[in-house]
Amino acid sequence: MELTLVFSFIFLLQDFLSGVSSASPRYFTSMFTLGDSYIDTGNFVIMATPVIPVWIDKPPYGMTFFGHPTGRPSDGRVIIDFIAEEFGLPFLPASLSNSSNISQGVNFAVGGATAVEVGFFERNDLVPFKLLNNSLDVQLGWFEKLRPSLCNTTEGSGGCFGKSLFLVGEFGVNDYNFIWMANKTEDEVRSYVPKVVKTIALAVERLINDGAAYIVVPGNPPIGCSPTILTLRRSANAMDYDRIGCLRAVNSVARYHNTLLRVTVGGLRGRYPHARIIFADFYNPIRRIIENPNSFGVVSDVLKACCGTGGAYNWNGSAVCGMPGVVACRNPAAYVSWDGVHYTEAINRYVAKGWLYGPYADPPILSAMQH
Ligand SMILES: *[C@@H]1O[C@H](CO)[C@@H](O)[C@H](O)[C@H]1NC(C)=O
Ligand SMILES: *[C@@H]1O[C@H](CO)[C@@H](O)[C@H](O)[C@H]1NC(C)=O
Ligand SMILES: *[C@@H]1O[C@H](CO)[C@@H](O)[C@H](O)[C@H]1NC(C)=O
Ligand SMILES: *[C@@H]1O[C@H](CO)[C@@H](O)[C@H](O)[C@H]1NC(C)=O
Ligand SMILES: *[C@@H]1O[C@H](CO)[C@@H](O)[C@H](O)[C@H]1NC(C)=O
Ligand SMILES: *[C@@H]1O[C@H](CO)[C@@H](O)[C@H](O)[C@H]1NC(C)=O
Repeated sequence: MELTLVFSFIFLLQDFLSGVSSASPRYFTSMFTLGDSYIDTGNFVIMATPVIPVWIDKPPYGMTFFGHPTGRPSDGRVIIDFIAEEFGLPFLPASLSNSSNISQGVNFAVGGATAVEVGFFERNDLVPFKLLNNSLDVQLGWFEKLRPSLCNTTEGSGGCFGKSLFLVGEFGVNDYNFIWMANKTEDEVRSYVPKVVKTIALAVERLINDGAAYIVVPGNPPIGCSPTILTLRRSANAMDYDRIGCLRAVNSVARYHNTLLRVTVGGLRGRYPHARIIFADFYNPIRRIIENPNSFGVVSDVLKACCGTGGAYNWNGSAVCGMPGVVACRNPAAYVSWDGVHYTEAINRYVAKGWLYGPYADPPILSAMQH
């Protein structure tokens, strides 16, 4: 809270000094988003279809809102859909769908995307398979390739993107998951955090140099509570679990990532005072629901997936959501996890509102615009 107040005050002062206050945007006219599956609106299905089996393009994906699969890894809308709705913008088309109308924005996020370039994981034998080339720098390249069709000046903020909202993330979950799955220890996974955070910070700087003025940088959710990780890293040692039943070490690395990312965002604000860089907390909204399921209408076992089959967490890698015969729960809004990895639409809405209005963003997106 105090941080937010200081932040707003600095901007008030700056606007006073530079006299741009009256020109400050009250709303966003477009959105450009980079990230992974948490906000994918169809890119993974397009990119993966000829290469690897895809299930998120099958029912019951999309059952709650669209009524059919859309390539979103949820039963309905993802976080950026709720943010777009808030500003009266259309749902963002997936960049790889070659949509002809991107004047109000486009989504570059792809499921499975890492912050660090994919060659790093392959060269260091961290993954036993070939990764799709969809990391953060590749997504930035897609944006920069489209940029001339959106903007013909090299002018910074206040130029073409002065009323555009950018989102960089979440990134990091896939980076760390690959390393966890290579059976590395907590200390080893931790040792990659500075590299991941630095990669995200460099991307934010590159976007600012491309003219971005408003950038939301989400942290990592508590993936140590996700049905996939709970199943794949199952432990016989009760000490590995917290009181809710989440994996301590996995969440501890996520929190370390978030702390370092937040500090790094603070540093970027100092270096680019004309840009509004918002840290979005993806950890505490999920944690709060998992800790108080009843006050959120979550009536299920909070660590079980809605759509899946069997085991302690209703998730089995050989029979995942979207495969024939795998069914969804009757009321996805009563669950946190939709398919073992991704959240239900109800959770996505709660996170989006927390980023727009607070308390889960510093500063909340709506107060960043009004300052
Ligand atoms: C989009 O355009 C590219 C380049 O022309 C093409 O290779 C690709 O197949 C198109 N994708 C879709 C989904 O139409
Ligand atoms: C793109 O969409 C905007 C708003 O929806 C509309 O004003 C514009 O005419 C569209 N452009 C094209 C080329 O369809
Ligand atoms: C991924 O794509 C980028 C940009 O097109 C390219 O520079 C890079 O070499 C590719 N990486 C791999 C591992 O294929
Ligand atoms: C920028 O210039 C290019 C090439 O002249 C043109 O194709 C494009 O439509 C222009 N973009 C905008 C946003 O005006
Ligand atoms: C990780 O450890 C598990 C259990 O010991 C083993 O089954 C699995 O093959 C290991 N995976 C890798 C990538 O080494
Ligand atoms: C996972 O699903 C496969 C395929 O249906 C099944 O053979 C296997 O027994 C299941 N594993 C567990 C642990 O339930």
